[in-house]
Amino acid sequence: MKHFLSITDLSPEQIKQIIRQAILMKKSHKKSDQNTHTWSQKSLPLEGKTFAMFFEKPSLRTRLSFETGIFQLGGHGIYLDQNNVWLGVRESLSDTAKVTSSMVDGIIARTYAHSTLQEMALHSSIPVINALSDLDHPCQVLADLMTIFEEFWTFVWVKISYIWDCDNNITNSLCLACALLDIEFACAWPAWYMLPPEIIVQAVQLNPNFIFTQDPSPSVIAKNAQVIVADTRVSMWDEQEKESRIADLQEYQVTQDLMSLADPNTIFLHCLPAYRDVEVTTQVIDGPQSRVFQEAENRLHVQKALLSYLFW
Ligand code: CP
Ligand code: NVA
Repeated sequence: MKHFLSITDLSPEQIKQIIRQAILMKKSHKKSDQNTHTWSQKSLPLEGKTFAMFFEKPSLRTRLSFETGIFQLGGHGIYLDQNNVWLGVRESLSDTAKVTSSMVDGIIARTYAHSTLQEMALHSSIPVINALSDLDHPCQVLADLMTIFEEFWTFVWVKISYIWDCDNNITNSLCLACALLDIEFACAWPAWYMLPPEIIVQAVQLNPNFIFTQDPSPSVIAKNAQVIVADTRVSMWDEQEKESRIADLQEYQVTQDLMSLADPNTIFLHCLPAYRDVEVTTQVIDGPQSRVFQEAENRLHVQKALLSYLFW
């Protein structure tokens, strides 16, 4: 049985296979007259399968892409929000996991603590998929990689530079993904939002040749990048720091001037939701180098490919 709690649950070859499959699924979805099933009725990969979708935190993209994707592949997703389920409050996580395993085929969960996912996976007899935790957002990073691949058709010479808070789920998953795929990865962060040392250690264990640079200056790391990435100034875990995070450090904003330091073919990614004109200017997010809406759409296609890989 395969859980997907971290991007490291997949090998580099599996990641590439899922991306290739996602690109095919996207193509066939766009060609399809109908906006629903793109597979022949006989071979819908999730035919008759049901998924419990536990969400402790809000979501637009993740919920929408999983529910739509499951439907398009012939399955059924049941959204269970925290107001109704009280994950870990009404009963132990192990009881929830056992009961859910007895009725459905897969669990998709967005949790505050990564340990909640691990506990559920430990007691589930069905696959558990991470739909974001404090530590990891592997589905997002699959969509990011797909978007990068659609742009450059290779990962070989691509360099990714990430700007701002590196102590977060997106950077953790991105760093590990880069190590797996041997992509050069650079970060610019204010000293108090560092990438956790254990993630760097894990990345280097995965790939001793992994090239990782850290520099306090965004302009230094922007120069060589094919992909510039930012994330929200205020993650769903950090609301109590909202004012200081927004007020802090304008120099970590992705502006057109910063983008202009890189090659004109360099693209900008952001998982969304974004605070416009805080971590990135409206000019950049709506500009010609931005791929953020393609990146968001790719959540649908890459998760369909992931679900097909895990459940078919
Ligand atoms: N990027 C992302 O996961 O968005 P949501 O929080 O809206 O699901
Ligand atoms: N780092 C962000 C990602 C949102 C998709 C958060 O955890 O809120």
